[in-house]
Amino acid sequence: MASTGTHDTPGRFPAGARAFPHRDLTGIGHLERHEILFLLAEAEQWVELNRQPSKHCDELAGLTIINAFFENSTRTLLSFEIAGKRLGADVVNMHAAQSSVKKGETLIDTAITLNAMRADAIVIRHGSSGAVDLIASKVDCPVLNAGDGQHEHPTQALLDALALRHALEDRGEGSEDFTGLTVTICGDILHSRVARSNVLCLQALGASVRLCAPPALMPAGVEAIGAQPFHDFDAALDGADVAMMLRLQSERMSGQFIPSAREYHHLYGLTRERLERCAPDALVMHPGPMNRGVEIDSEVADMLDRSIITRQVEMGVAIRMACLDVLTRKARGVPGWNDGQWV
Ligand code: NCD
Repeated sequence: MASTGTHDTPGRFPAGARAFPHRDLTGIGHLERHEILFLLAEAEQWVELNRQPSKHCDELAGLTIINAFFENSTRTLLSFEIAGKRLGADVVNMHAAQSSVKKGETLIDTAITLNAMRADAIVIRHGSSGAVDLIASKVDCPVLNAGDGQHEHPTQALLDALALRHALEDRGEGSEDFTGLTVTICGDILHSRVARSNVLCLQALGASVRLCAPPALMPAGVEAIGAQPFHDFDAALDGADVAMMLRLQSERMSGQFIPSAREYHHLYGLTRERLERCAPDALVMHPGPMNRGVEIDSEVADMLDRSIITRQVEMGVAIRMACLDVLTRKARGVPGWNDGQWV
């Protein structure tokens, strides 16, 4: 597959900027705006490929990618696996439940073991914030964060941005960034790495972000990162262009954070009536997994003209292909690799 994005890209970078200077993708917080736009542009060729009957190419042939998942996952693990395979790499999945982690092996020993197997990229999901950075500091290959604790989930934010951009383009409202757009993210903000990565990504691309949660599920100081906090969902939705709903992450809660799922739905569930408060034609997003009838009603999640939830899943494969491709360019000696040497 011709990497058209690759050849078009140098012009997108500010004069003197290095193309993609990062070995790892551990968070959106490390990326400049033009680097986010670069990854989104790179993903377009993979969106195209993924819509063809034959979806295979050999860009990463001979490379080994290890997906090391220390937490459960459906769409993130599957889409990283599909992404690696479509690029022609050998992909191996390590599920912590069946690994030596259960026998007491430390994270550092696991990292050293993966490194000794000479992986060419390691994708990690872990329940502790910062675990991915720790592993990245111990290995010699690119490391991609597939979600670490309450910290970051960078490929989720990138795929959300790509899905949003495509949905806006389909309506003839497409532009390179999201200047002028208001996005309301509602749910368990306190425990959500998706919320954090999305705030950073959406703001870098010019959107205004409102965060809405019950007081117990709103972290302190969200204003400091430029987001506007709300406890009243109706006020948070007022005139918004996008409603992004998040699940209650019960597995991260110690103790009772909400009175009941029924009460939560009453105050913070996205219903058809509530959606009316948003801008006309506002879009609905959710990273999954959804708890229908709690944070979102089925009739809203399944609205063909408003919900872009399945498009988010589609874009997830393309974004992960782009990230694996870009981060392994140095090892493959491909022009435009991650040291900025455009040949
Ligand atoms: C999210 C995650 O794992 O952080 N899911 C995902 O990656 N699609 C959100 C969640 O688990 O609620």
